[in-house]
Amino acid sequence: MNVMILGAGGREYSIGRAMKDDENVDKLYFCPGNGATHNLGENVDIKDYHELAQFAKDNDIEFTIVGPEAPLVDGVVDIFKAEGLTIFGPSAQAAQLEGSKVYMKNFLAKYDIPTAAYIETDHIETAFKFIDTLDAPIVVKADGLCGGKGVIIAMSRDEAKKATSEMLSGTSFGDAGLKIIIEEFLDGYELSMFAICDGDDFVLLQAAQDHKRLLDGDKGPNTGGMGAYAPTPLVDDELYEKVKDRVIRPTLAGMKKEGAPFEGVLFIGIMVVNGEPITLEFNVRFGDPECEILMPLMKSSVFDLFYKAATGKLNELNVEFYDKYAVGVVMASKDYPYSSSTPAQIIVDEIHHEEIANNTHISYAGVSLLDDTLCATGGRVLVCVGLGDSIKQARDRAYMLCGQVHFAGKKIRTDIAYQALR
Ligand code: AMP
Ligand code: GLY
Repeated sequence: MNVMILGAGGREYSIGRAMKDDENVDKLYFCPGNGATHNLGENVDIKDYHELAQFAKDNDIEFTIVGPEAPLVDGVVDIFKAEGLTIFGPSAQAAQLEGSKVYMKNFLAKYDIPTAAYIETDHIETAFKFIDTLDAPIVVKADGLCGGKGVIIAMSRDEAKKATSEMLSGTSFGDAGLKIIIEEFLDGYELSMFAICDGDDFVLLQAAQDHKRLLDGDKGPNTGGMGAYAPTPLVDDELYEKVKDRVIRPTLAGMKKEGAPFEGVLFIGIMVVNGEPITLEFNVRFGDPECEILMPLMKSSVFDLFYKAATGKLNELNVEFYDKYAVGVVMASKDYPYSSSTPAQIIVDEIHHEEIANNTHISYAGVSLLDDTLCATGGRVLVCVGLGDSIKQARDRAYMLCGQVHFAGKKIRTDIAYQALR
């Protein structure tokens, strides 16, 4: 069948790459895609979701997969389903688990899912009072979507109060900050876990770790993620079971009770504190760059997994993963994450070493075709992925690939997967 993938990043490229040769997939469409996805399929640029649903019908697109959160929160799944189309992702109501941190925290509290102690407020005096009861660091979060920038880890009460005032007055994040969450700081190690859900059942993928800060040693500003690896040895079977029992099962049951059964990718941001998984946040889509390393670890068909999830048949599926590790290193442009950089031509040297060539690939993200030349035009430009029998081997291969890829101003972190290797 024909399949469409919504989004433009490395995440969407990696999903397309994983499905391109699937026996069930005839043609791939990307909306809007990027300068490299047209090597996997056809890029279409339609912004209106009703028009897009019509395009899907006109082109026999029987299945659509949504990459980013914005179309989900905007209701693209509801629009497609109303037209009788099959689409993988949560409804607008279920997407509130990411679209509103207040909704998410209140949901976690209501269904007894462990999370950091917090208050929700739109009132500055209430916020200041709660801040006075906490020791720094103190976490202040804007309610709405802020492009990954809405969380402030304040190093003093004064800083927390300043962040609070700026959010509640609308100065820092506009309407998205008019309601806030203030919560205790959790000290532990962070995991990204992904449950593919069909409303009742789920398949939990291998646990990954992202690297959110720009610079080595987790220094510098927050980014969308500078690299990831999986599966992480920081998670054992007991921890997987705890996450299933304490987080995923109650979330699926709770969302059903709320009248918003969760279908799609449940991204659980976890902080492990003294061996216990505490939910930091939910997202309702794959992480990026986590998706780029999880897709190549799937031995079973990625198409089948998403299609069965979208049609309520996950219970029929027995998913297998390769017995391998994957490491992804993000190559970003010069001024990321502060501002965009001038377009720069991308050159990839030929890899003559067969072992490296066979165990590495690039997932393209912020790239465009300018005069038929592939150019870096986004903040996170591409991800160099290495596979191996150990994390170290996968990492070494990913970094060897990084050495073969060139564009002016390219920058990478050199310590991806350090928590697993120290
Ligand atoms: P979020 O946008 O909710 O993913 O938060 C961004 C990042 O802030 C997370 O990935 C964590 O690294 C950090 N963070 C969020 N909440 C907490 C918390 N309660 N304690 C410690 N770190 C946190
Ligand atoms: N890599 C984290 C995210 O996609 O939010």
